[in-house]
Amino acid sequence: MKNITVIGTGYVGLVSGAGLSDFGNQVVCADIDESKIRLLKTGKIPIFEPGLKEVVKRNVKSGRLSFTTDVSKAIRDSEVIFIGVGTPEGKNGEADLSTIFSVAEMIGNNLNDYKIICTKSTVPIGTGQKIISIIKKYKNNDIDFDYVSNPEFLREGAAVQDFIRPNRVVLGVTSDKALKIMYDVYRPLYINETPIVHTNIPTAEMIKYASNAFLALKISYINEIANLCEAVDADVHIVAKAMGNDGRISPKFLHPGPGFGGSCFPKDTKALVSLSEKLNEPINTVAAAIVTNDKQKKRMTDKLFSLMENEIKGKTIAVLGLSFKQMTDDVRESAAIEMIQSILDSGGIAKAYDPVAADNMKKYFPNIEYSTSWQAAVKNVDAVVIMTEWHEFRGMDLSELKSLMKSPLVLDTRNILSVKDLTELGFKFDNVGRKALK
Ligand code: UDX
Repeated sequence: MKNITVIGTGYVGLVSGAGLSDFGNQVVCADIDESKIRLLKTGKIPIFEPGLKEVVKRNVKSGRLSFTTDVSKAIRDSEVIFIGVGTPEGKNGEADLSTIFSVAEMIGNNLNDYKIICTKSTVPIGTGQKIISIIKKYKNNDIDFDYVSNPEFLREGAAVQDFIRPNRVVLGVTSDKALKIMYDVYRPLYINETPIVHTNIPTAEMIKYASNAFLALKISYINEIANLCEAVDADVHIVAKAMGNDGRISPKFLHPGPGFGGSCFPKDTKALVSLSEKLNEPINTVAAAIVTNDKQKKRMTDKLFSLMENEIKGKTIAVLGLSFKQMTDDVRESAAIEMIQSILDSGGIAKAYDPVAADNMKKYFPNIEYSTSWQAAVKNVDAVVIMTEWHEFRGMDLSELKSLMKSPLVLDTRNILSVKDLTELGFKFDNVGRKALK
């Protein structure tokens, strides 16, 4: 097993650090953010991610996992350095790589022995070469290093499981020595016969983008089919289920909704399109999926306004669910942001509730009212919009909902409420592609 430093303690870095220590490696998670490291040192987790706290606790206790703000020392003390810092969307849809490059500089400055520099963050194809050049520029010696591209495929909300039991591990490597060390890092997975794809660096970088863009494409496709279903009185869920019975298609990622959000799909699809344009190899399918997704978010606000007969001014609307999907507190690119903004822009009053994401949404909307339960949020409101598929909304007692609201009007953008029950209780409602059931 190896001495590892993971730089960056966000969703990817922290989960990877915890997971790698669970595999038996000796791991230091390093971050320049002192408040995050302080929290982690006291056993607290800065993000909501099911199961993460337990894995961190277990490995800290065993002495295999620790945290530091001294990134330089952590680099010097380890043989394998994972880069897990953020690559937010920059200008023109390209990923902003400034943090990645400053980490590369720091690695170059602290290269005191042979090391593997391994990128987990999603980076545009070709970034590996740039990282290598920066390290070479800043290292002041003949010491050798190898670069590895090891993209992470974890889903927020299921990240720990995805790390510990991945569908595959992708390793973009340039030397047998590096490959051997990486096999050692992932030894439990190797023994478990998890598929390990080893290839060159650009192929590894491409696998990540091609996978994410394909999933985003699938979602935009089913959302457009859902919209067509509305026009022809078909039920999109039955369509999706029957499509999924075909092994060539698979039933996953065919759930219609308010448009995909999160830290990956919106950013990665744009980055891939931007790269394809630069290289004069346009990727029209992905460009179309982005347009469809923007339209889908807008379509949800249109649906609400048409349900309310465009009388939004002065009306109170409860927005239930703020995160971009269930089981996470992440609100980045969440369709709820556009929904709340358009309610406010039209003179409506938005009340919000989410089991875990309210604090993060306060950064976007500090002045709206946040409730501490769905029951409190829906009290006396003119309309309810469900934006996230939290279990507690699935299990909602619709008679109770009706009795609390001023008027029974619901937009269910996740198709989690029973159309039969809503109809029987006399709700005015809409959803995504299930009009046939009205
Ligand atoms: C995604 C990828 O799944 C993961 O492999 C990658 O590493 C990072 O990006 P994540 O963003 O955490 O993970 O969430 P995911 O579960 O993939 O959902 C992304 C978005 O698509 C969410 O907004 C979700 O609500 C939406 N979605 C997903 C749908 O609308 N329909 C679906 O069928 C599936």
